[in-house]
Amino acid sequence: MGAAVFFDPHPPVGAALCVETGGAGTVLSEVADLHEHLGQMSDEDTLVLGPDLDERAAFDVTRLVRTQRPGVEVILVRREITTPLLQEALRTRLAAVIDHQDPLQLRAELKRSLGRAASAEPAAPSPARRGRVLTVFAAKGGSGKTMLAVNLAAVLADHGQRQVCIVDLDLAFGDVAIAMQLFPAHTIADAVPLGGEIDASAVTALLTQHSAGLSAIVAPTEPSVAESVSPRLISHLLDVLRAEFDYVVVDTAAAFDDQVLAALDVSDLITLVVTPDVPALKTLKITVETLLELGCPQERLRLVLNRSDARVGISHAEVAKTALMPLAGLVPSSRDVPSSVNRGVPIVLDDPRHPVSEGITQFARSEVLGLGPDLARPRRVRRRFRP
Ligand SMILES: Nc1ncnc2c1ncn2[C@@H]1O[C@H](COP(=O)(O)OP(=O)(O)OP(=O)(O)O)[C@@H](O)[C@H]1O
Ligand SMILES: [Mg+2]
Repeated sequence: MGAAVFFDPHPPVGAALCVETGGAGTVLSEVADLHEHLGQMSDEDTLVLGPDLDERAAFDVTRLVRTQRPGVEVILVRREITTPLLQEALRTRLAAVIDHQDPLQLRAELKRSLGRAASAEPAAPSPARRGRVLTVFAAKGGSGKTMLAVNLAAVLADHGQRQVCIVDLDLAFGDVAIAMQLFPAHTIADAVPLGGEIDASAVTALLTQHSAGLSAIVAPTEPSVAESVSPRLISHLLDVLRAEFDYVVVDTAAAFDDQVLAALDVSDLITLVVTPDVPALKTLKITVETLLELGCPQERLRLVLNRSDARVGISHAEVAKTALMPLAGLVPSSRDVPSSVNRGVPIVLDDPRHPVSEGITQFARSEVLGLGPDLARPRRVRRRFRP
């Protein structure tokens, strides 16, 4: 069990935080004392930065902790929580940002953080297997994220050749279960009461098996439950999953919310999906700029053009130029896609030689499996079937 250190420039505020969370820990108010104390802290300890510490100073301290004591978790208590603050929190890998009027949440977060050393052993991912987390994202709705995520997962599983888990992080309106005709006994919401206690056996209970090698963790059935799935739980869950599976494919909501950001942060590959229309391209441009600003390495990003054959006056070159990256995959438009969704059978399983399946398989082979392009000739999409 680690120890807690509370820091706030005003000693009564730091002391109040300590009392609110159970009264155990060291209270400091001078930056010099904090620097000195860092040298004595162990990797299991947690540093709580109080609400009166200036925001810039708080992030400076966090960065210092990252370099000097990388194992120490930092929890930031704020009077006001803004989006730029959360983005910076993500960048500096803060463990949590908590509203100063929410002592219960602070108490729970601190309990989880201090208990991590004790729970680390059973939950430690097996070093023998470290799968890749692949997140499919588009900030604009209806781009084809779910279509791509479900089919990519099926291609990668390849009838049991690899172990793949698809996670539906479109927490309010996820439709992975429908697209794969799953009848789940559990959803990701069942992980919420477990807090930081998720280990391989807890994860197994959340899974819904689709077919050989392919499992899913589906979205909650009640949209209101979405908020209870914390970003921290998501990163922890993905970490445990990557120890159990070769690939973890994450479908996302069309939003830059904290839950999606948590997934993007731990992803090895972020596949951005875009359709060839001006609003989608505008959103894509902002998305790429934001991701780069958040410190996401460009080499983790891939771009897939969905409905790539639509003749709407936007060339592939224009799409690539807007996104500041080449097109890594092309998926044509076909009414067979919605009909496969309605039947609940991923099109790559239903018709592997379909041009849509070929596009997704090609992308999986060249960008994920690194096997190079599939030389089989794709069939042409029948124009009359285009929606
Ligand atoms: N290549 C395609 N050809 C034809 N229809 C498509 C294609 N890709 C997606 N669709 C259809 O477009 C709709 C939106 O696709 P999908 O649900 O995959 O998008 P999404 O980005 O997940 O949307 P949301 O943001 O609402 O979750 C669906 O009805 C899907 O069947
Ligand atoms: Mg979707």
